[in-house]
Amino acid sequence: MDFAINIDPRVPLPLYRQVYEELRQAILSGRFTPGQKLPSTRSLAQLLGVSRSTVTQSYDLLLSEGYLETIVGSGTFVCRQLPDELLNAAPMLSKLSPASSSIRLSAYGESLNDNAFLRLPEAELEISFSYGRPAFDHFPIDLWRKLISRHCHASQEVLDYTAYSLGYQPLREAIASYLSRSRAVNCSAEQIMIVGGSQQGLDLITRLLIDRGDWIAVEDPGYLGARRAFLAQGATLFPVSVDQSGLIVNELKTSIMPNIKLLYVTPSHQFPTGAVLSLPRRLELLAWAQTSGVMIIEDDYDSEYRYGERPIPALQGLDQGNSLIYVGTFSKVLFPALRLGYLVLPENLVHVFSRAKWLADRQCSLLEQYALTDFITEGHLERHIRRMRSLYNQRRQTLVQSLSTHFGNRIEIMGENAGMHLMVKINTKIHDDEIVKRAALANVGIGAAYPQYLKDSPGSEFIFGYAELNEQQIQEGVRRLAEVIPD
Ligand SMILES: Cc1ncc(COP(=O)(O)O)c(C=O)c1O
Repeated sequence: MDFAINIDPRVPLPLYRQVYEELRQAILSGRFTPGQKLPSTRSLAQLLGVSRSTVTQSYDLLLSEGYLETIVGSGTFVCRQLPDELLNAAPMLSKLSPASSSIRLSAYGESLNDNAFLRLPEAELEISFSYGRPAFDHFPIDLWRKLISRHCHASQEVLDYTAYSLGYQPLREAIASYLSRSRAVNCSAEQIMIVGGSQQGLDLITRLLIDRGDWIAVEDPGYLGARRAFLAQGATLFPVSVDQSGLIVNELKTSIMPNIKLLYVTPSHQFPTGAVLSLPRRLELLAWAQTSGVMIIEDDYDSEYRYGERPIPALQGLDQGNSLIYVGTFSKVLFPALRLGYLVLPENLVHVFSRAKWLADRQCSLLEQYALTDFITEGHLERHIRRMRSLYNQRRQTLVQSLSTHFGNRIEIMGENAGMHLMVKINTKIHDDEIVKRAALANVGIGAAYPQYLKDSPGSEFIFGYAELNEQQIQEGVRRLAEVIPD
């Protein structure tokens, strides 16, 4: 049997899914015929250079969908009674990409119809320096379970629709007070809207404030999740460069500037460079926004983690006007699957945002909002953040040390004093994609920074998330990387 299967660790699809798609296509196209025997999971894994569990997952999926069958003691075969409809549907199935089907996508749909959209499947690898993932095994899950069960009873209140699309009022109050204590954000609970993570916040902001063709200024390099939401709404992006002090505000003052409507910025820990926007730049930015009538979106996604230096207050707290939306999330301080974040809105926008939230999904899940309220008001949130700050600080130091042990002066480390990731510039002639591929073959996941650039990327920059990895994993991961990126 011809087992020319193409898998590519750079393709943004998990490996098991790639193996599954290749086998399925081979069956549907008739390259593999009914009754034909497949190699064992062990030998196919060896052939493809992937783990056995990757192949087992693909086989299981094909078995469950009726493409394969097992005969005890003999092995796995292409199903003898492959349904006719399945085979007849084959030419159609292979064409069923939204672009080529007869359904015409909206401009929004078309803007999403792009293979580069998805993230790399770094999680499949043994050691993954993927960014933005907290230390899951340190989350106080027993306490969380207790708080969820405290509210998990058959009372109508927790099960019903609520009239409050803006979110559970005690949670809005708890967040307003937490933000004022920890980030010097200046707001009342009435300005807080609970959203399904910052991503939903960014999506609603774009829908409500941006028309096709409007200009949004973004940091370059910058966060793809935000950029994707802006582009999907038809915005045109104006890239503003970043240096060690964050966004270069001066670039916004050139005479050839388009008419900017919004500016998106990550001042506490620029994504991905890690630069912290200096105080003079903050003031300069606010003054520019005020005179030019631009609304600022401040994404404060991991500001809770700052090492050795005093936190700089949020831009929001320094803003004298009514022209800033602050975006926060619990994805980093708690866990991303919680899908809870918040917007701090200027008062005059609260009403229209609550209507947009209602149309999008009516409300966030109440049970989690109740539990989170207790988590904050009983002091667990700040305690957890303090613990994680110390843990991430150790992990960050281990990473910096391992990088300098194994790479010496071949690297420059950026943005290591805050957040949950740092950026590393490696002095090498090997192409970024080749490095990512070699790392993947060594079972290590790293992400190149170049996709985050709008203008030309300098290249050889990589993002290292470290919060989720223990010290041994960090040391071993860096050791393996040094082996595949020789001097
Ligand atoms: C810059 C930035 N903002 C926000 C988020 C968090 O998004 P969410 O709250 O939707 O999980 C991330 C996640 O990695 C991020 O990197």
